[in-house]
Amino acid sequence: MKLQNATALVTGANRGIGRAFVQALLDADVQKIYATARNRNSLEALTAINPTRVIPLQVDVTDLNMVCQLSEKIPDVNLLINNAGVLSFGNILETPVETIHQPTI
Ligand SMILES: NC(=O)c1ccc[n+]([C@@H]2O[C@H](COP(=O)([O-])OP(=O)(O)OC[C@H]3O[C@@H](n4cnc5c(N)ncnc54)[C@H](OP(=O)(O)O)[C@@H]3O)[C@@H](O)[C@H]2O)c1
Repeated sequence: MKLQNATALVTGANRGIGRAFVQALLDADVQKIYATARNRNSLEALTAINPTRVIPLQVDVTDLNMVCQLSEKIPDVNLLINNAGVLSFGNILETPVETIHQPTI
């Protein structure tokens, strides 16, 4: 699959699998990668790898307003990797109610 001409957006790019996706896209010669995180500062190390090709943006994917603003701001995206998310394991009787109520991303 040729990705060089793609313009990618990776959510939750500051760590874990999302960060690895950005690195893989850089390795695949993708020229423009929007990397998003809830805290823009947490993207500094990733952006430093290639400041020309990795563009940091702040977005909480559970915030509808932020998501709508983002889609207007970067209409050139044609490859979306919607990686941001939370995964909780455990016995439902021992899981805090806040975790159960956490919005699905
Ligand atoms: N690792 C696994 O075995 C596994 C298995 C099945 C599915 N997954 C899914 O794969 C994805 C990545 O997993 P991972 O292991 O890399 O997880 P991770 O290390 O916990 O990273 C999760 C990423 O999602 C971001 N995130 C969480 N809530 C967000 C929100 N409301 N808005 C924006 N960003 C948000 C986190 O940002 P912060 O740094 O701000 O928290 C972080 O960048 C997740 O969606 C996870 O559910 C993982």
